[in-house]
Amino acid sequence: MKKEYLSAPLPFVGQKRMFAKEYIKVLGEVKDAKVFVDLFGGSGLLSHITKRQRPDATVVYNDFDNYRRRIENIGRTNTMLDRLRDILVSVPRLKIVPKPIRERILDMMAEEEAETGFVDYITLSTSLLFSMKYATTLEEMRKHTMYNRIRRSGYDANGYLDGIVVESCDYRELFEKYRDRDDVVFLVDPPYLSTDAGTYNMYWKLSDYLDVLTVLVGHRYVYFTSDKSSIVELCDWLGKNKEIGNPFIGATRKEFNASMNYNSHYTDMMLYNVA
Ligand SMILES: C[S@@+](CC[C@H](N)C(=O)[O-])C[C@H]1O[C@@H](n2cnc3c(N)ncnc32)[C@H](O)[C@@H]1O
Repeated sequence: MKKEYLSAPLPFVGQKRMFAKEYIKVLGEVKDAKVFVDLFGGSGLLSHITKRQRPDATVVYNDFDNYRRRIENIGRTNTMLDRLRDILVSVPRLKIVPKPIRERILDMMAEEEAETGFVDYITLSTSLLFSMKYATTLEEMRKHTMYNRIRRSGYDANGYLDGIVVESCDYRELFEKYRDRDDVVFLVDPPYLSTDAGTYNMYWKLSDYLDVLTVLVGHRYVYFTSDKSSIVELCDWLGKNKEIGNPFIGATRKEFNASMNYNSHYTDMMLYNVA
């Protein structure tokens, strides 16, 4: 029996591990579907679970962030963790890493990157940075205070992506490939609507978030969101007020830029239609 992972084998912010069991139940309700397309694959956890539950189905994982590169480099990351354990031997658990030791760690990372071209900074972050803080580059790592939160054992991802079709493209492109099939289920877990998308490299504004909804119409889907985005509330409201359309068509807009402090700005608007 192949191991079934119920959480991503390497740290990934936004992975749907808390829904793993519920998601498995949903799969039991779509036995006739033959293709599952994970449009926003992230760590690939939903693709992995789908393939384990439905080995007969085609499962397409959209690896937009190149998570598979992190998986492929797991051996190297484990070796770095072994070396870190040695370097950190004199630092008590959860305590700040003193400057000279921190410098050794940063040098080790720089060397590894120069030699191999890849360091899994996200995974190393969970062993070195304050909870939920992540660096994605050496430069970012340098800016953080380090703590000894070293993981006691290595990671493994044996067979995690076995049998899965891996793609890496914009979700719209992948959707176009499969949209006309009637045996497809789309897994739709877009990035959080926010000004800070954590460890992913992009900024998702409301219209990007709303664009994703067009994928759902007329297709079978499993969609994920959070109450932070208020998207379900918005759709409920639109459903009840179908006739309203855009009340600002024909309005004139005046803007006023306001600053709260050096990194927080917003724009106040006045829209008027008095003709
Ligand atoms: C919330 S995460 C998905 C998490 C995933 N379901 C899991 O369990 O690990 C959203 C993912 O969408 C990716 N993404 C961002 N923009 C995208 C785009 N235009 N097309 C496809 N994926 C995109 C992000 O990089 C991120 O990996």
